[in-house]
Amino acid sequence: MKVTVVGAGAVGASCAEYIAIKNFASEVVILDIKEGYAEGKAMDLMQTASLNGFDTKVVGSTSDYSKTAGSDICVITSGIPRKPGMTREELIGINAGIVKSVSGSLIEHSPNTIIIVVSNPMDTMTYLVHKTTDLPKNRIIGMGGALDSARFKYRLAEALEAPISDVDGMVIGGHSDKGMVPLTAHATRNSVKVSEFLSEERLNQVKEDTKVGGATLTKLLGTSAWYAPGAAVSGLVQAIACDQKKMYPCSALLAGEYGLNDLCIGVPVILGRNGIENIVEIELSAAEKAHMQESAEGVKKTNGLLEL
Ligand code: LAC
Repeated sequence: MKVTVVGAGAVGASCAEYIAIKNFASEVVILDIKEGYAEGKAMDLMQTASLNGFDTKVVGSTSDYSKTAGSDICVITSGIPRKPGMTREELIGINAGIVKSVSGSLIEHSPNTIIIVVSNPMDTMTYLVHKTTDLPKNRIIGMGGALDSARFKYRLAEALEAPISDVDGMVIGGHSDKGMVPLTAHATRNSVKVSEFLSEERLNQVKEDTKVGGATLTKLLGTSAWYAPGAAVSGLVQAIACDQKKMYPCSALLAGEYGLNDLCIGVPVILGRNGIENIVEIELSAAEKAHMQESAEGVKKTNGLLEL
């Protein structure tokens, strides 16, 4: 199993590290345009192998896509990250050009690859890869919901004063401050609905804190976060590589599911060796349906800024 991560910035490096540490891939290639940078990250990571106990070979490359040839899964993290006060949507101009050229180069060397898009605005960048490449739709996946759900679980555990392993919950919708739809009515503590423990007001607070999860970190760090994004990507990569058939919310191209068409947005999917093996349609409340519709309108508006 060969995995390529494009972008050796904080998110890309963290992805590569978690994938290597989990020890399921034979090789991880990190590629970046900054001369020597990916090679440096790869060497530093390889020097943790004996300490952290993994055998995954980590290779760095400065813009040489021939090193990525034959990758089973490619992750695109390249582009500029958010600065404090910026929305993910404001990154579209620069990142669209980068994502288009990176996905083209990756597919040229790995025609059978599955692509995971992380660059923001993620749902629109995922749609761009669908529109500008010939890959079948099950092989293009946007990473947002897995991260937003992890942030939701963190906030739920905080509110419940419970360990995270007690908590389950999912965020669907667009990967944006307004677009996220945290499914509070479905969230549970050890199979009991969280509404049994938390007031509506507290649950609404959890929801709002989840939606601005990325922005809160961007304000604290001066740039966007990397540990949780990296861990979330590594979870998706592992589910595909190990054919786990795990359910994750991911940005997928919809054709009628949830009453939506011709956009990529976060919905629960089953991930296995074929990428998106199935889109799972769950029953939403009237309020959740309305929120999902509003979220889709936001994503479509951003998609409209693409020069296709
Ligand atoms: C975040 C970026 C990765 O939410 O979108 O931290």
